[in-house]
Amino acid sequence: MKDKSVLDVKIQKEDKVLDLALRPKKLLEYVGQKQIKQSLEIFIMAAKKRQETPEHVLLYGPPGIGKTTLANVIANEVGGNLRVVSGPAVERAGDLASLVTSLSPGDVLFIDEIHRLNTQAEELLYPVMEDAILDVMLGKGPGAKNLRMELPPITIIGATTKAGSLSGPLRDRDGMTYRLDFYTDAEIDDILKRSAKILGIKLDSLGRKEIAKRSRKTPRIANRLLKRIRDYAEVKEDGKITLAVAQKALKLLNVDEKGLDQVDQKLLETLVDKFSGGPVGLKTLAAAIGEDEETIETVCEPYLIRLGFLKRAAKGREATERAKEHLKDMKRKE
Ligand SMILES: Nc1ncnc2c1ncn2[C@@H]1O[C@H](COP(=O)(O)OP(=O)(O)OP(=O)(O)O)[C@@H](O)[C@H]1O
Ligand SMILES: [Mg+2]
Repeated sequence: MKDKSVLDVKIQKEDKVLDLALRPKKLLEYVGQKQIKQSLEIFIMAAKKRQETPEHVLLYGPPGIGKTTLANVIANEVGGNLRVVSGPAVERAGDLASLVTSLSPGDVLFIDEIHRLNTQAEELLYPVMEDAILDVMLGKGPGAKNLRMELPPITIIGATTKAGSLSGPLRDRDGMTYRLDFYTDAEIDDILKRSAKILGIKLDSLGRKEIAKRSRKTPRIANRLLKRIRDYAEVKEDGKITLAVAQKALKLLNVDEKGLDQVDQKLLETLVDKFSGGPVGLKTLAAAIGEDEETIETVCEPYLIRLGFLKRAAKGREATERAKEHLKDMKRKE
């Protein structure tokens, strides 16, 4: 049995405590995503110079890649208060209306999972983003009244794991769109170095490299693995994380050498064994492995494509030769 939880990129309880300690606050501390940082630095500085509120921003990328962190960093650099709301949590457009009217000039409103806002809330956002105007209907039927008010200048940052599912109007209204990509192993290594220092963990460079290699190129996983391996090192060893200690702990945690989790493996195995490598459509594949299409599209596929294990063609998904080799390799080592 594989321990799914340790490699599951979606946020878990244990991450929240880690987040508080490890989340970078300044652009300088934010590792990697060099081009995004350069661009942000310029546009934030330019806005400050002109004493304007920075444009709205859209961040997209797979879970655990640093979107919420970057929103926090931007708010810090801009110097405004950060207000956070999650798309699915906005039940009525009125909730969003009262939130935006409570903001002060220069504040940053972070809308997580913006692609999951309901239609009314989304439509309310259009004039807010375009002209800083709130346009709401009060009441229903013949007595309904239209309320229009000017809002203070604010910056809205939307985040989504699914760029494709964002409506056109919302995309058009975002001034800057940034796609956060997976990190290189060297960047994950830097993140681990920083985290180990903050948490006071003894971690040597070879141990660090090993963890970086198996972290799914994702900061959230890297930090989580670091914490779990520290537990192992403290209980079973002398507390120091070396290559040998990291390897033993990772084996115990059932972490695949390429950072694949149970779902990724099942997906690849099914593709190869049941569909002779593909191509096969997303719906069929999802049904065959008993996962929902969204998880496959937003969690598994970006990483498998990045590893060169999966191809997305017009006719469907295909497993590559490299994926087949990896599966054989894993079987041999079992
Ligand atoms: N560039 C970075 N440098 C250093 N640490 C990072 C970086 N990006 C992310 N992290 C660390 O990884 C953790 C997870 O990142 P974050 O919560 O921002 O991901 P996310 O993209 O918002 O994920 P989700 O889609 O699940 O909301 C953060 O708490 C932070 O500690
Ligand atoms: Mg987030």
